[in-house]
Amino acid sequence: MNLAVKIKNFQLRTPIVCASGTFGYGEELKGLVNFKNIGAVTTKTITINSREGNPPPRIYETEYGVMNSIGLENPGLSGFLAEKLPRLLKLPVKPLVSVGGFSQEDYEQIVKALETKEEIEAIEVNLSCPNIKMKKMFSQDSEATYNLVKSLRAITKKTFIVKITPEVSDITEIAKAAQSAGADAISLVNTFFALGINIETKKPYLGSVYGGYSSRAIKPLALYKVWQVYKNVTIPLIAGGGIETANDAIEFFLAGATAISIGTINLVYPDRATDILKGLKDYMKRKKIKDINELKGGMVS
Ligand SMILES: Cc1cc2nc3c(=O)[nH]c(=O)nc-3n(C[C@H](O)[C@H](O)[C@H](O)COP(=O)(O)O)c2cc1C
Repeated sequence: MNLAVKIKNFQLRTPIVCASGTFGYGEELKGLVNFKNIGAVTTKTITINSREGNPPPRIYETEYGVMNSIGLENPGLSGFLAEKLPRLLKLPVKPLVSVGGFSQEDYEQIVKALETKEEIEAIEVNLSCPNIKMKKMFSQDSEATYNLVKSLRAITKKTFIVKITPEVSDITEIAKAAQSAGADAISLVNTFFALGINIETKKPYLGSVYGGYSSRAIKPLALYKVWQVYKNVTIPLIAGGGIETANDAIEFFLAGATAISIGTINLVYPDRATDILKGLKDYMKRKKIKDINELKGGMVS
């Protein structure tokens, strides 16, 4: 039975990727997870300068999902390279380094610096960061997405994955722009905008008022976006949003995912990749599927 997948030159021994911001820098989870069941661990998004993030509270759990407004807290590029990366590289799992920025120059600087690190095979560029000039996220604008991806593509020879927001009227336009500018894969979905208000205090639950919604509440919304994008691009998708079980993961493969990502569920069950992998194997055995890649886009309609 084959469970390995390939995202351009990035070979993953299992099709399960731990999503950015939900798995620290890998090392924090040592002793709690079986890394051999994980295809890659995506780091928290790193930026050029260190960031403290947004004011608390930064996480609020609803009945069906989780809202967060972490605000890209991270040690910055130099802190990452000095402290986090060496420890991550000692783990028996592939790292996928997530980078962010607030201008094209920010992204160019960080990708240039990572390009010199041979141990890093793949970069995920988080285009859900706000562009200071545009006052919206890069991936909310197909031209900004195209221009940024094109310039970064010229800098990096590594497997170059572009993560996009679902907060657009037509996500296929953004995905197509990323593909035509040279992205090797698309990662989706990032969180949906969300707001919660405490009716007693009349204040928002999150310190920065609104945040990003994730977890099981978004699964059908995310699955729809993934299916839409799959029909419009030819590059592989790392897809997720609300995946908690193997059955959820199978839906994403059937909608077009090459690999799946698990996020919020890691905060509660850090070794959930192990359960999902087992469930995938059981399903493949039951359906007589020899290769996980056979499932991709296999929805019958
Ligand atoms: C606490 C938290 C922090 C996150 N931080 C990041 C981040 O730094 N960069 C990023 O690209 N996505 C970030 N995300 C989004 C996740 O990577 C994922 O795309 C999203 O939560 C949807 O998947 P899920 O429903 O499985 O969590 C974060 C999500 C959560 C819950």
